[in-house]
Amino acid sequence: MKPMRIKQVLAREAAGGDVMIQGWIRTKRDSKGFSFLEINDGSMMANIQVVADEKLANYASEIVPLTTGASVAIEGTLVDSPGKGQKYEIHAERIMVFGGADAASYPLQKKRHSFEFLRTIAHLRPRTNTFGAIARVRSGLSFAIHQFFRDRGFVYVHTPIITASDCEGAGEMFKVTTLDLANVPRTPNGAIDFEQDFFGKPANLTVSGQLEGEIFATALSNIYTFGPTFRAENSNTARHLAEFWMIEPEMAFCDLDGDMDLAEAFLQETIQYLFDHHMEDLEFFNQRIDTTVLETLHNIVDNPFERLSYTDAMAILVKHNDEFEYKVQWGSDIQTEHERHLSETVFKKPVIVTDYPKSIKAFYMKLNGDDRTVRAMDILAPRIGEIIGGSQREDDIATLERRMREFNLDPKDYWWYLDLRRYGSVPHSGFGLGFERMLLLVTGMTNIRDVIPFPRTPKNAEF
Ligand code: 4AD
Ligand code: MG
Repeated sequence: MKPMRIKQVLAREAAGGDVMIQGWIRTKRDSKGFSFLEINDGSMMANIQVVADEKLANYASEIVPLTTGASVAIEGTLVDSPGKGQKYEIHAERIMVFGGADAASYPLQKKRHSFEFLRTIAHLRPRTNTFGAIARVRSGLSFAIHQFFRDRGFVYVHTPIITASDCEGAGEMFKVTTLDLANVPRTPNGAIDFEQDFFGKPANLTVSGQLEGEIFATALSNIYTFGPTFRAENSNTARHLAEFWMIEPEMAFCDLDGDMDLAEAFLQETIQYLFDHHMEDLEFFNQRIDTTVLETLHNIVDNPFERLSYTDAMAILVKHNDEFEYKVQWGSDIQTEHERHLSETVFKKPVIVTDYPKSIKAFYMKLNGDDRTVRAMDILAPRIGEIIGGSQREDDIATLERRMREFNLDPKDYWWYLDLRRYGSVPHSGFGLGFERMLLLVTGMTNIRDVIPFPRTPKNAEF
């Protein structure tokens, strides 16, 4: 018989007929003459109940000893379940055991485990309800993102993971080298001799695919990237990973207003996709993780985002300085507490802050006529703070070269980036969405380590 996923079985219109399923035992209960097995195969949140009669040939030898975590295949008849909360159950005719799970050492028990504990067993946590749901939603959201861009004619570009340029100019990069660290070659003046390194010059893991994305946007008009991104910032917060996934669209012939319009539609439509395809998991998050998740998401989908300038945002924030740990004034960076104040307390919805002081943003952002601010935009989401960062790009070559020098970057190192302004320069804009920040938003989870399968954070790269 051909096995089915439990989701397909439970979607059947009526009971009756034989089915075969395969999965892992979540719980097992023995009563007189029967055992009840709850089986999960990850296709959905729900388990299916299997009734195993003692008349089964391997009942005493194999079924009775089964415990939580064991893997089985079951053939049997699908019948209406007399139990509450489940539509069907399977009356087993044959149970094959693939692998047992030693009950004394299997770490997942029926009780609730803390997320902290589950992080120490990241190889088994996908077998819990919460992490199964996160994995499904993560996969669904990836698909929704590709669909969103594909529907609009954006080309998906694979930008490199190893690069020799520092996109954000922040110097928080992981180095990539094959030099012998115990015996580093030196130049006559004592510096590291990178000419002997693999690439013949210093290389690192990318902090953003944007600069390479701009290359393709100035040829194909609208592109996006979706890939892993690396930042060696030593910030041990619930919102930072050393390895995270970023989605970066880049549009030629587009100014900051067009950029904001796309970002807003992007968040709204991809969340709508989750409503349409992942409601069972979202409802689970709303019940078990954070009871405001669905309300927050509906609010995002149904209302236009608030848009205001950094200067106007500061005017609001300075009035509340007594409530903040970090006091702000015009020119200060906006921290998570301020971002949340704006999106949660003041506007109660996502807020797009634009036109930041040039000193706190990257060199490539388009300079405004005031020579003090740049055409940047950050989207601040309730509970999360910054979820998207973007800008219109400087398309004037002289200004861009001047800005590079202000950031102590050598324009010679960026010759190809400058060429994009030398040949057929166009106004262009883009943004980056931190994929895991969006997953925090849609799941209600509070620690970013729990929405990526294998978190990389300072002092942590197990699994
Ligand atoms: O604001 P960021 O640094 O912007 C860029 O990298 C631009 N090159 C994007 C662009 O215009 N194409 O990062 C973008 C987003 C942030 O808003 C945040 O959501 C996320 O990436 N992010 C992180 N997520 C997890 N861990 C980290 N360490 C992150 N750093 C940034
Ligand atoms: Mg940013």
